[in-house]
Amino acid sequence: MSDTVTIIDNRTGKQLNCPVLQGVMGPPVIDIKHLYKELGMFTYDPGYGSTSSCKSAITYLDGEQGVLMYRGYPIEQLAEQSTFLEVCYLLIYGELPSRLQMDEWETGIKMHTMTHEHLSRFYTGYRYDAHPMSIMGGVVNAIASYYHDATDIYDAGQRLMTAKRVIGKMPNIASKCYRYAIGLPFVYPDNSLSYIENFMNMTFSKPSEKYKPSPVAVRALDLLFILHADHEQNASTSTVRLAASAETNPFACIAAGIATLWGKAHGGANEAVIKMLEEIEHPRNIRKFLDRAKDKDDSFRLMGFGHRVYKNYDPRATIIRKACHELLGEMGLNQPMFEIAMELERIALEDGYFIERKLYPNVDFYSGLIYQALNIPSEMFTVMFALARSAGWVAQWMELMVDSDFRIGRPRQLYIGKEKRDYIPISQRS
Ligand code: SDX
Repeated sequence: MSDTVTIIDNRTGKQLNCPVLQGVMGPPVIDIKHLYKELGMFTYDPGYGSTSSCKSAITYLDGEQGVLMYRGYPIEQLAEQSTFLEVCYLLIYGELPSRLQMDEWETGIKMHTMTHEHLSRFYTGYRYDAHPMSIMGGVVNAIASYYHDATDIYDAGQRLMTAKRVIGKMPNIASKCYRYAIGLPFVYPDNSLSYIENFMNMTFSKPSEKYKPSPVAVRALDLLFILHADHEQNASTSTVRLAASAETNPFACIAAGIATLWGKAHGGANEAVIKMLEEIEHPRNIRKFLDRAKDKDDSFRLMGFGHRVYKNYDPRATIIRKACHELLGEMGLNQPMFEIAMELERIALEDGYFIERKLYPNVDFYSGLIYQALNIPSEMFTVMFALARSAGWVAQWMELMVDSDFRIGRPRQLYIGKEKRDYIPISQRS
């Protein structure tokens, strides 16, 4: 039995044998790169639901089984035993570090936690109430104008330097997006602190008081960053790859990823979930919102529910839900919204509309509740997502740059416009 699929054009009888490629895990793929040349046709797959855009060894998802692995390690084990900084190493190098490698990695990242002093001037160009995702995208894109010592995207050492700069500087930038908005002075990194403690100190410390981040909060953030670090070829990662395929500056690629992640159908959903729970206000109103979510004439969707790939529970949602419960307990917080969220989840998962469409809570459903418990304002939630996902974006960028199939991404289309017609001078138009 040959590893091919035959495509037959029944209109002409022409046919094409396409190789079937099988990865280490997951569905095989049909290599259709010669389809247009041989049969004169394009495929049509809006939203790319049946299209693999690349080969990758970084993250594996199984949407039916609710499986997520980084470099073969199950997310549940990494969430339980690893740290975000170690996961960054794993995503980039493909292996867990030895103790010595981890120490060198941590020291290397700490060498890049500062940003050029002039970069701080970029924040002041934004309105006081600018959305921090707009600020983050602008500032990260601006970094592309700074590092002329590592612009050779085909040099492995310069790519690694860029990766360390992205991972080292994103907490600094994220903290400034927040502090600019609330009128607090920027805080320099303190490399005597851990990666997460440093971020929290830059974000939450005040010149007038001593600040010590709570170990519970540090662990909760570390967990959230691990869970958000990478996720296969999602919309923002695909954006980063498409920009990278044009050989553009890597910081500009990351900025493009930030722009995509901001959408409420993607990373912006965590902020939208909190707004939705505030609007629901009380469990007695849940049914009304579920009816709106099912009403095709109503654009309202249940934020934090559904996923293009997961047709089972998002494993990250399961982990975050448990962590949320524990954190609220440890902090002695009675968060009414957590009760509403759990009741909403219970009712939705018993509702035929959601069951038939396999709509389960996703990573964004509970993450906002943890951020809120840590006094992080909702407009910062997607900034936190971007901070964590920048590790995955830069790892995927590095992988693409050495891909044997590397070429500029240039999809085609089904043209539904006007046929050829001649120009009419304006004097002759009605
Ligand atoms: C993230 O891709 C990733 O990996 C993303 C991510 C990552 O880590 O990078 O996991 C992060 O983006 C998570 C998703 C966060 N977004 C939301 O929570 C927003 C709400 N969810 C939906 O907008 C939606 O579920 C999407 C965008 C997530 C997925 O959309 P799809 O795959 O295009 O699903 P679809 O539109 O084809 O929906 C299938 C059906 C439709 O109904 P029918 O036309 O079959 O009658 O399900 C319905 C949809 O109307 N539906 C919903 C719904 N999600 C889908 N109905 C109500 N509420 C919802 N949330």
